[in-house]
Amino acid sequence: MIPNGTMSLSADPAGIAQAADLLRQGLLVAIPTETVYGLGGDARNGEAVASIYAAKGRPSFNPLIAHVASVEAAKRFVNWSDQAEALADAFWPGPLTLVLPLRPGHGISSLVTAGLETLAVRVPAHPTARALLTEFDGPVAAPSANPSGQISPTTAEHVLSGLNGRIAAVLDDGPCGVGLESTIVGLSGEPALLRPGGVALEQVETVLNTQLHVHQVGDALNAPGQLESHYAPDAPVRLNASTARGDEVLLGFGPVDCDLNLSATGDLAEAAANLFAALHTLNATGRPIAVTPIPDHGLGAAINDRLRRAAAPRHT
Ligand code: TXA
Ligand code: MG
Repeated sequence: MIPNGTMSLSADPAGIAQAADLLRQGLLVAIPTETVYGLGGDARNGEAVASIYAAKGRPSFNPLIAHVASVEAAKRFVNWSDQAEALADAFWPGPLTLVLPLRPGHGISSLVTAGLETLAVRVPAHPTARALLTEFDGPVAAPSANPSGQISPTTAEHVLSGLNGRIAAVLDDGPCGVGLESTIVGLSGEPALLRPGGVALEQVETVLNTQLHVHQVGDALNAPGQLESHYAPDAPVRLNASTARGDEVLLGFGPVDCDLNLSATGDLAEAAANLFAALHTLNATGRPIAVTPIPDHGLGAAINDRLRRAAAPRHT
């Protein structure tokens, strides 16, 4: 536990400097990114990374994303390739994570990679995240800043509701714009989609001019937790509902009659940005949640992926 609770820092130069200082001390700071809030620690410091796993209660075989300030910084840690260059050109800074072979002398704690020979790297677009990474001048390991298995945080309040007293600080910069985690593309072999997210699969395939292998549930490694219960509210979640049954609250999309609408106009980007906050809100009602159908193209694929996990059978 953090003796005086978790500090809330404002996203101004003083707050950012203090956050960088806490990271240098090996402490944990929740940081805003354009996708979700990340639980940041120095990726070169094994004790800091271990405390990320401890704060989240996360199984230690699940590797973390290293966040860096620039493409040049990423190249210090991984073997770069033409495909990486093309994707970085198109989508960095932004909600895309690339998995590439580690470079010799990388200095990243093996707890970040969970012992793999590859590293997931991302240059986030959020101005406060970029300012912090520049000020810190090192790689920051950051999973989503929620207790393992629970709904991802898109506000500082979400972070505190799950992790207050377990981390040194949260850098508060309001709600996240994209609202869904980054798309993860594996480039250590044939290009593969390891997780749908804030960049649509179709856009990645256009840039690489090839179809990605899509990892299926039960594929070895690469995305630990495929279709395990995840992003899960306390109450049951039922998908593809047309109306609420019994005590359910209805989460809608498009022009439907419901308790809460992800996007009344049927805009998938708006729905993505609202998804986790909506699940947090409905979770607080304590009632079971039903969700109307969401189209499966573009960002809809990532929204449906999160909803299927939220609805998956729970582990105890
Ligand atoms: O948008 C995001 O990506 C957010 C923000 C904070 O950047 N972060 C995030 O991290 O979602 P996390 O830890 O919740 O999810 C990281 C995913 C995990 O599913 C993990 O298995 C996968 O990345 N991953 C990390 N390193 C990997 C590697 N070397 N090979 C394959 N998958 C990897
Ligand atoms: Mg997560």
